[in-house]
Amino acid sequence: MIRLSKYDKSVLNGEHGPGALTAMKIITRMAEVYGTDRLMDIDAAHIDSSLYMGDATLEFAEHLASQGAQVVVPSTLNVSGVDEHGWQAWSVPPDWADNARRQMVAYVAMGCVQTWTCAPYQTEHRPHFGQQIAWGESNAIAFANSVIGARTERYPDLLDICAAITGRVPAVGYHLEENRRGQIHMPLEGTHRKLQENDGLYPVLGHLVGKVAQDKVPVLTGFDVSPTEDQLKAFGAAAASSGTVGLFHIVGITPEAPTIPAAFHGREPERVVEITMESLRAARAELSTAEGEKLDMVALGCPHFSQPEFEHLAGLLEGKEKASQVEFLVTSNRAMTMLAEKTGSLETLKKFGGRITRDTCILTTPMLPDEIRIIMTNSAKYAYYAPGMLNTQVVFGTLEDCVRSAIDGRVNRDEGLWKT
Ligand code: F3S
Repeated sequence: MIRLSKYDKSVLNGEHGPGALTAMKIITRMAEVYGTDRLMDIDAAHIDSSLYMGDATLEFAEHLASQGAQVVVPSTLNVSGVDEHGWQAWSVPPDWADNARRQMVAYVAMGCVQTWTCAPYQTEHRPHFGQQIAWGESNAIAFANSVIGARTERYPDLLDICAAITGRVPAVGYHLEENRRGQIHMPLEGTHRKLQENDGLYPVLGHLVGKVAQDKVPVLTGFDVSPTEDQLKAFGAAAASSGTVGLFHIVGITPEAPTIPAAFHGREPERVVEITMESLRAARAELSTAEGEKLDMVALGCPHFSQPEFEHLAGLLEGKEKASQVEFLVTSNRAMTMLAEKTGSLETLKKFGGRITRDTCILTTPMLPDEIRIIMTNSAKYAYYAPGMLNTQVVFGTLEDCVRSAIDGRVNRDEGLWKT
């Protein structure tokens, strides 16, 4: 039996309208499924249900909106199923675009903020340490929990919007201090400083850590450098793809891990798994399925490109031009794209021959033409999912590798860093 507050009861009595009643019924039922009798307050949400995946997701959104459901906490939106302003330039079927747009409209009608990004933590809506939130989207969950120290369970689509409409969630998982304890110790052994400084390490490391940790909380030690926020973003996205990592600690770097005992809450790790150069090389190899030099497309921006990433990319593209046979795509959200436009990075991208897709990405909208068979990316998440979801082959490389390859019109990776 769920312990209900006065507010919960009033929602279940229909006093806040039929939309809130539907959402609260789902929340209380899910509390039973999670095995708790307790609900708790959240004060922000990030909604991954915004993603159009067919009739069911559209109907669910329109049903709630037609019942007058409104979010009661600030609620950002994850990617949508269509780039509203640019889908016609790609292979998106018009009926898909129409349905995906209808779904966007439904979430906006419920009062959500039109961030349309899988990197909401790089917007003004970034949560703060200790804040109780209900976030969907695996990379965002990992980042919010680990890098910021906010508290969210891994919310599946549809439950996230119910949390936003009620402001209530089952009191389980990473909302609770005791479940935030590190479980697997993964020391970095023999990873040289130059590699630690390189962006290319973090997706590979995340891929490896996700495979080992699965749904446990990994604790990494042995860093000689302080990774940048974008490097931690790439790491978390990878670990949440190959595993279901929703929280990680890096000792001396992330806020809940000032020391090893603090990361493990004073207990012993369940397991110790060393990260060696050999295991990293193997993980890197797994992220490529294509052989040879053939290349159809470079895809960047998974998770969505940030302002520093646009700037970095522009520096690499300045005065250069891609090979005509290779598509060059960056995915980001409308706010970052606007900033890139202001700073001139977008112009540099266009002069290079590159294109931008806003508010969605290649995995969430059917935009790629059939001719795209081999994709190169600096994202372990794209590399992990593209073969299965898009039926393409992939090559993983650093941002520099991707740019060089786009210019050369063939895969051209620098192996130097991975040799020693
Ligand atoms: Fe974002 Fe799409 Fe990657 S939603 S995290 S760009 S798969």
